[in-house]
Amino acid sequence: MKIAVAKETREHETRVAATPETVKKFIKAGAEVVVQSGAGDSASIPDAQYEDAGATVAKTYAQALKGADVVLKVQRPTEAEVKSLAKGQKLFCIMSPYAEPAIMEALADKGVDAYAMEFMPRITRAQSMDVLSSQANLAGYKAVIEAANTYGKAMPQMMTAAGTVAPAKVFIMGVGVAGLQAIATARRLGAIVTATDVRPATEEQVASLGAKFIAVKNEEFEQAQTAGGYAKEMSDDYKKQQAELVAGHIAKQDIVVTTALIPGRKAPVLVTKEMVASMKPGSVIVDLAVEQGGNVEGAEYAKVVTTDNGVIIVGHANVPGRLAADASALFARNHFNFLSPFIGEGGALEIKDDDELVQGIRLTKDGEIVHPNFAKEAAE
Ligand code: NAI
Repeated sequence: MKIAVAKETREHETRVAATPETVKKFIKAGAEVVVQSGAGDSASIPDAQYEDAGATVAKTYAQALKGADVVLKVQRPTEAEVKSLAKGQKLFCIMSPYAEPAIMEALADKGVDAYAMEFMPRITRAQSMDVLSSQANLAGYKAVIEAANTYGKAMPQMMTAAGTVAPAKVFIMGVGVAGLQAIATARRLGAIVTATDVRPATEEQVASLGAKFIAVKNEEFEQAQTAGGYAKEMSDDYKKQQAELVAGHIAKQDIVVTTALIPGRKAPVLVTKEMVASMKPGSVIVDLAVEQGGNVEGAEYAKVVTTDNGVIIVGHANVPGRLAADASALFARNHFNFLSPFIGEGGALEIKDDDELVQGIRLTKDGEIVHPNFAKEAAE
């Protein structure tokens, strides 16, 4: 099997889909690896490190892909990049088919088998392959670091000869993978942390990290978690009660980090304009959901905005990409952990059609869109 590692070209993308560590592992398993020159530059991995790991470096994208059986990327290819992909090649990356279905269709038309790593089923066996978790964890950490950096006061309480510095009050909205890491990071920095979520399972997790849990706990809350572990979209009535509860709390916070998502849908709005207006000047809000429509009214994608009342709303794009080296290392291992069980004798790739993980992430095969989510849409 020949594996090609492409340089990412989408805006704000700094990560790379393979590292010298995973290149070595693939080669040890019998594969040949070609890396596009410069692929690791923004993750601080020069070409020479890939060569030392046993890879060949190709000058261009097209050269890297020529004759490859497998193409590893972080982001879905652009329209122009699809052109260099060939029939029968297998592509692994974050595909975001809802955001740009035309790319999935173009890949099917070309006969490329595209696998969406973000669709990895959330079962125990797949934890080490889960790109959403590996990247969200880093994003949660970085969101708090960005907030602390933007905030004009200190995070921990400090008793000094000149008087006491009060600890920052930090509120984390959405306690999934990113939110849990955000709570842990804010606690380590010495802040007073509260958190909210609609899934009852999170209450204990929040308490175990030393933070206080705040939520509307009614019958709907008890049933808000799907079998897959995700949140359901809440009713308008629940959202109203939640907003009333949160409004008074937010007004007293110094830093708010929002991470709430509902798979396949626009992110829920949790912080309204009125809530932002109620906050003190100098307060900071980091909206990690800004790429999915945002949890905060007034947040702008890839921008840091200061409101009329002096609240700073941070809407950075690709927050995991702001830790490019670590994010790439974890992403690359997710790719390797998924592919390695399918590498047979002599390094050949033998993807098993009946594997639950394969069925969960494969979007296209042999010129057709095969994923149940999209095949169903086509039938409707
Ligand atoms: P996510 O990124 O889809 O959402 C983030 C958080 O926002 C979730 O905790 C969700 O409940 C919350 N949320 C949604 N709507 C909300 C609202 N209106 N108000 C407040 N909060 C809201 O979720 P993520 O982080 O990808 O994972 C969710 C859970 O899935 C994890 O906590 C875990 O239990 C499970 N999981 C299981 C894995 C496995 O077994 N392989 C791997 C990763 C996660």
